[in-house]
Amino acid sequence: MLESNQSPYLCHVFVCTNDRKGARKSCADGNSSEIRRLLKEEIANRGWKPKIRISQSGCLGVCDSGPNVMLYPQQDWFSGVHVNDVPKILNRIEAILKENK
Ligand code: FES
Repeated sequence: MLESNQSPYLCHVFVCTNDRKGARKSCADGNSSEIRRLLKEEIANRGWKPKIRISQSGCLGVCDSGPNVMLYPQQDWFSGVHVNDVPKILNRIEAILKENK
């Protein structure tokens, strides 16, 4: 039976890991699986797992600007993400946590 509940997470981070294997541009071309892995690892290291969820997603519809990472319900989008940008995304997540203390 269908249930409707509030998200248990303050912020749900979706990392597009769609891979078209070179047939057309996709976020996997920019090593998005590694971006996801680094985010997951650091969220766990910082003890944020109860409030922050990192999930891989399929195509978010803006492939040409990928790799794409979106934060909900904040509606923040990061495009053209490089593995070196992970600290910047973590800074934004930290700010969200502080805003919601
Ligand atoms: S493949 Fe990532 S947004 Fe389309």
